[in-house]
Amino acid sequence: MKGIILAGGSGTRLHPMTQATSKQLLPVYDKPMVYYPLSVLMLAGIRDIMVISTPADLPQFRRLLGDGARLGVRFTYAEQPRPEGLAQAFHIARGWLAGEACALALGDNMIFGDHLSAQLQEAAAREDGASVFAYHVADPERYGVVTMDAQGRAVDIVEKPAVPASNWAVIGLYFYDRHVTEMAAAVQPSPRGELEITDLNRMYMEQGKLHVQKLGRGCAWLDAGTPDSLMQAGTFVQTIQSRQGMLVGCPEEVAFRMGWIDAVALRGHALALGKTELGRVLMQLAEGRHL
Ligand code: DAU
Repeated sequence: MKGIILAGGSGTRLHPMTQATSKQLLPVYDKPMVYYPLSVLMLAGIRDIMVISTPADLPQFRRLLGDGARLGVRFTYAEQPRPEGLAQAFHIARGWLAGEACALALGDNMIFGDHLSAQLQEAAAREDGASVFAYHVADPERYGVVTMDAQGRAVDIVEKPAVPASNWAVIGLYFYDRHVTEMAAAVQPSPRGELEITDLNRMYMEQGKLHVQKLGRGCAWLDAGTPDSLMQAGTFVQTIQSRQGMLVGCPEEVAFRMGWIDAVALRGHALALGKTELGRVLMQLAEGRHL
């Protein structure tokens, strides 16, 4: 399975912070935002990843992430000239995907929680259909909203409904089977002129092929679309890291734990991070002192 990180858009709700840089490169506590969805794709076992961003911002992503060899993964880069919808990612990636299954992660979504790796790997292993994750929120009207029957099967999925039928928001992480490019080609622009990911998910639902996995209380899902939510996300990461001494959203750690880089490489990354706390924890990991 391949993976896409969609990190375009203009981030207008974060102006002036995003006037000269991409929203997905802003810091969330001690790391650039894009590290969090990247770590999630890597935890799902995905090593072939396309980063999509605006023509202006893409060079900065390249500068930050390089070709991926240092993490034992491979990055490919592609431009999205205008933000014409999340499902457009599959038009852009069509040639590169070459009919493979693919996960899509939004560059501003952060997920963290117990048993997440197992759930991600289960979704990635599913060969038929699409898998999405639902998270109970107080303000569903801001998101794609899914309604499920008593058996947990999706019966309705709507983008930002004025009157939501449930409190289950669909988070910005989607796993699709190898039919995704043909399915995405059939998505028509919505009244707001975007190729909606929710329309793609509805097509899978109508074929009886949309799996919905509920994320429980032990999971945190954060986005960073406004100054308040950006601050909350940073505080969340700071709280977990300083209290538990564990890292959140660190691709170097994930690469090491997945066995894609060895302790020597990890030590090199730790040294490159100098005297930062991140560098200190990675060094402990490389030396087997962090269990
Ligand atoms: O965060 C989860 C939600 O993400 C889902 O519940 C919704 O169903 C889904 O439509 C999406 O809603 P948003 O209102 O958050 O979408 P937004 O247009 O803000 O785009 C999400 C991110 O993707 C944002 O960081 C900008 C980026 N983006 C967006 C579009 C439309 C792109 O890179 N390219 C695009 O064409």
